[in-house]
Amino acid sequence: MVDQAFSDPGLAEVYDSLHPWYSRDDLAFYLPLVLEASAVLDVGCGTGALLHRAREAGHSGRLCGLDPADGMLARARNRADIEWVLGDLSSVSWERAFDLVVMTGHALQVFLTDRDLAGALAKIRRALIAGGRFACETRNPAARAWEGWVPGNAVEVVTADGTTVRAAHQVQARWGDLVRFTTTFSSPKWAGPRRSESTLRFLDADSLADAFAEAGLRIDEQFGDWNRGPLTATSPEIITIARATPYPAGDI
Ligand SMILES: C[S@@+](CC[C@H](N)C(=O)[O-])C[C@H]1O[C@@H](n2cnc3c(N)ncnc32)[C@H](O)[C@@H]1O
Repeated sequence: MVDQAFSDPGLAEVYDSLHPWYSRDDLAFYLPLVLEASAVLDVGCGTGALLHRAREAGHSGRLCGLDPADGMLARARNRADIEWVLGDLSSVSWERAFDLVVMTGHALQVFLTDRDLAGALAKIRRALIAGGRFACETRNPAARAWEGWVPGNAVEVVTADGTTVRAAHQVQARWGDLVRFTTTFSSPKWAGPRRSESTLRFLDADSLADAFAEAGLRIDEQFGDWNRGPLTATSPEIITIARATPYPAGDI
């Protein structure tokens, strides 16, 4: 099920206000990879900020964004010179179509079980040409980011139409490597608050490496932050750039 925060067009606009380009060190990291590639798939593309920026920066090849949330994709569609696909990896069947696949904004953490993750990585592997790259990040569980997801850390933004919106996270439950939390959006201009609930998986680097290897994705580089600092036990991010290994002869 898609989070309300992503399917509600009003909240998708709030997402862009909360995460403007200039604050996105992550997208600044991914942009050069996108510009180097000729055909790029952005899985969980959201409002399409990365692909929009790539086109603006002169990318002239294939850019394709995939997302199951219509509210997010409606904003992405503001650019018509990029392919936008409503859906998730289970609904697509690209084969050797892209030389880069990215998942940004911690979108990889939506896969909550080993089976879901394996299914997604297999689809990504299949969508890549041999030697193509998959780049993504996941929050390092050792950094315990969820401890900061408390109403006291709420943030307030003003959207493009001048509406002030406050967004507050609250962790509801934690079990195994999963964290369920709510985000409550409120505004003096709205009749009442809007609430979304999400569950994310915090996979450690070893488990991630096993899942990548199983899917035929060989890890080339890993970083612990957006300045390309090394991955350490407590670094905030596990940023991974992997390469699709060739299928055995006769296999696809
Ligand atoms: C935090 S947003 C990140 C959006 C964008 N990648 C960015 O960096 O701004 C997570 C996105 O993942 C999408 N998403 C949720 N479940 C998904 C799934 N199973 N497959 C692909 N995308 C999914 C959501 O709709 C949402 O747009």
